[in-house]
Amino acid sequence: MVSKDTSGYTPAELDQLRKEIEAIPWWHRIQVGPFVTPGRASHYAQDWIASRLPASLAGKSVLDIGAWDGYFSFLAEERGARRVLAVDNLKNPEAHPKGSASFELAKRVRKSKVEFQILDVYDCDRLQEKFDVILFLGVYYHLHSPIYALEKIRHVLAPGGSVFMEGMVRPGGEPSVYVLNDADYGPTNHSNPTVAAVERMALKAGFTSVRTVHLNYGGGWGPKLFGRRIRPSNWNRVMHLAYALHVRSQAYRGLFELR
Ligand SMILES: C[S@@+](CC[C@H](N)C(=O)[O-])C[C@H]1O[C@@H](n2cnc3c(N)ncnc32)[C@H](O)[C@@H]1O
Repeated sequence: MVSKDTSGYTPAELDQLRKEIEAIPWWHRIQVGPFVTPGRASHYAQDWIASRLPASLAGKSVLDIGAWDGYFSFLAEERGARRVLAVDNLKNPEAHPKGSASFELAKRVRKSKVEFQILDVYDCDRLQEKFDVILFLGVYYHLHSPIYALEKIRHVLAPGGSVFMEGMVRPGGEPSVYVLNDADYGPTNHSNPTVAAVERMALKAGFTSVRTVHLNYGGGWGPKLFGRRIRPSNWNRVMHLAYALHVRSQAYRGLFELR
């Protein structure tokens, strides 16, 4: 756990906060007081998504679906959103043994106004509210029915609003979905669509435009030299070509804006 400026905290308070953070299995790296939580999620992926989302969300209302510890919800608040609702079904006990404790701890220490609700994406049309921006990051490939989920999401999108959807995609120009096997990808990952399939799913769900914000072929891996990750500017293209030629089922990541 990295610590920054600890001024304003007594040694006893720091010790207490450290213990509270250590008692939770974190997915995200979140600044919580002087500490950064030890998230398991790829640091590179978290930073990549953050760098591609709108730099300002001033005055917007934001719904973060599948928020987990809430990194992107707090980011939306930091970027000026007037209202942020974070939701997650927290259904997988292995991933969420402490429920929403991580979110609540970060919220408390950050003095955040972000709200949290346990809610399944399939029920999000029950919310009596529409949102200017919906974050749907790292979720669709976990779903049995992504098109149905997108239909539900469209019901809570305010006119003129955007859904930022991020997740696994695979090479190929045809609109097809590779169904993942549990042995390689774990039982909670189901489908790996091409970009063309992502676009078609969004159109089927009633969205009228799909923009590819960015495709990330690097994924945070790649060779290391003297402990540092090599990231030549054309690394993305090299990875894409390798995947396209050799590993049909292999995944990279895409961020899309649906309207
Ligand atoms: C890979 S994590 C992504 C977390 C975060 N959005 C991010 O991008 O870092 C997937 C999250 O989606 C949640 N999730 C999975 N299926 C869901 C569903 N049907 N409804 C709501 N949340 C769901 C999981 O509980 C988990 O917290």
